[in-house]
Amino acid sequence: MNTTHQAFGDEPHAGPGLRPLYQVVYCSRASEGLQDSAVDRIIATSRRHNPQRGITGLLVYGSGIFFQWIEGPRDSIEELMGQLRRDPRHHDIVTLAETEEVRERLFPDWTMELVQASDIRDVLVDARDTANDAHSVEALTLLLEQLDAGLLGAMGAH
Ligand SMILES: Cc1cc2nc3c(=O)[nH]c(=O)nc-3n(C[C@H](O)[C@H](O)[C@H](O)COP(=O)(O)O)c2cc1C
Repeated sequence: MNTTHQAFGDEPHAGPGLRPLYQVVYCSRASEGLQDSAVDRIIATSRRHNPQRGITGLLVYGSGIFFQWIEGPRDSIEELMGQLRRDPRHHDIVTLAETEEVRERLFPDWTMELVQASDIRDVLVDARDTANDAHSVEALTLLLEQLDAGLLGAMGAH
């Protein structure tokens, strides 16, 4: 039995009647003067809320830019996106990817992981190399191309 996935009964491996996984990847501009302590509070809030909503993902913060990857049931993700759009700690949200597919979670153990901008490429390459299904590999390959095309530079990761 794969114990890392047991918290989420909606996963593909859970058998018939599975629900698709909704995924949103976005970046946004942090509000002027946002402190590191505010980012720590965002992570703490996320870890409190996300498990009960079935949301997993990662958050990167660097050079005044947020980059977040969230996946879970569609209604939970849409509710969170509504909250994120009203959150005054950031603005100019730009959606980079939005998909709904039956596939495994890419970061099943992360209720919301804060990843350093300098580590994001390694995290995504690792997720791609260990992913078991073609949809995940495709999504991660696309995202890595986007990162290499400029987003990493914008976040001060080079
Ligand atoms: C960049 C960013 C990412 C966030 N990510 C999450 C998240 O993954 N989950 C979450 O519940 N709240 C997240 N939040 C906070 C929500 O916008 C919102 O403030 C929070 O869910 C409200 O929780 P509260 O009612 O307990 O204060 C994030 C906020 C920002 C600015």
